[in-house]
Amino acid sequence: MKLAQRVGRISPSPTLRITAEAKAMAARGVDVIDFASGEPDLDTPLPVKDAGIAAIRSGFTKYTAAGGTDELKQAVLDKLKRDQGLSYDKSQVLISSGAKHSLYNLAQAFIEAGDEVIIPAPYWVSYPDQVLLNDGTPVIVQTEEATGFHLTGALLERHVTPRSKAVIVNSPGNPTGAAYDRKTLEGIAEVALRHGLLIISDEIYEKLLYDGLMHVSIASLGPEVQARTVVVNGVSKAYSMTGWRIGYAAGPKDLIAAMTTVQSQSTSNPTSISQKAAVAALNGGDAFIKELVTEFDRRRRYMVEGLNKIPGIRCAMPKGAFYAFPHVGQLLGRRAPDGPLASATALAGYLLKEARTALVPGEAFGAPEYLRFSYATGMQNIAAGLDRIDAAVRRLS
Ligand SMILES: Cc1ncc(COP(=O)(O)O)c(C=O)c1O
Repeated sequence: MKLAQRVGRISPSPTLRITAEAKAMAARGVDVIDFASGEPDLDTPLPVKDAGIAAIRSGFTKYTAAGGTDELKQAVLDKLKRDQGLSYDKSQVLISSGAKHSLYNLAQAFIEAGDEVIIPAPYWVSYPDQVLLNDGTPVIVQTEEATGFHLTGALLERHVTPRSKAVIVNSPGNPTGAAYDRKTLEGIAEVALRHGLLIISDEIYEKLLYDGLMHVSIASLGPEVQARTVVVNGVSKAYSMTGWRIGYAAGPKDLIAAMTTVQSQSTSNPTSISQKAAVAALNGGDAFIKELVTEFDRRRRYMVEGLNKIPGIRCAMPKGAFYAFPHVGQLLGRRAPDGPLASATALAGYLLKEARTALVPGEAFGAPEYLRFSYATGMQNIAAGLDRIDAAVRRLS
């Protein structure tokens, strides 16, 4: 069958693929430890589940407005005001089936053939593919571990062309855990504004910051920046609600209206039941988040310390999200029984087979000398997984 050319430009999400592979191995009875997963392992908070159940019982089970319920939009407005000091009107908010869906609607509504979108690497796997699916050109900007994997104003400036249309900022970031400070964001915003770029600010890991760091939304730098920024966020990571599929975007009214139209012609509204649950999450206080951050912080330190003890692996301390992103360049080229491990993908394949640990190789994020380890799994798993990896690495010649 002759498929549309655009499909040939993209590949299935590697993180979802590897997670599915690990789950399939587990279903076959293989004792595999999953460090690939991009979701918190804690259960959705009970009051949030109860709100979903109440929605079903009360018959809140029909279509809602395509762009989301007024009630949830209000909860999002309140959240953005409370946490970021940002004021929006309801017409500037879109509720989608996950932050990923908000980003996709944005790409559909904003990107045309030949448009360039500047994406700092290491990047979240879906950014380049969503741009490609919409006939745009991802312009990948390499950032360095030595400078905290930060895009800067100067780096952005070097990649701007007359075709540049937008820049993506993801703080705290997946896969590196990088968190941008105000000064760096100011530098990026200055360049973006001067060149008329839209700033796409993916803040889905906002609540997962450690060592007392406070999240700064680039949109909060002033009215001019806010007017050129789309903030994308959601309840998946902060409230352990990945399966409920609720995300949102807040930004310029005309753009949000266009994104809402796209959504109305593709998926209609996000699930009515999940919208009720998301209201309960956003209005329910920060107790669950505090618990999540305390637990993830413990695991973060333990995992980074353990990784740094494995010969050939070097891991910086991530500032946010729930991933460790160690450099494994020294292991590439070493020999496994089946031959040399020429790439991070080959190394991840070796570790899946020999150490029964699932990880995502750095190629997926535009960082071919790294592996991504999620610590959204229990301490026992982390301890056992690191032991197995250590043993498997020591068997390499
Ligand atoms: C950086 C980043 N943005 C967006 C998303 C999508 O989240 P959601 O579950 O809200 O679609 C993810 C999920 O892994 C992510 O890592």
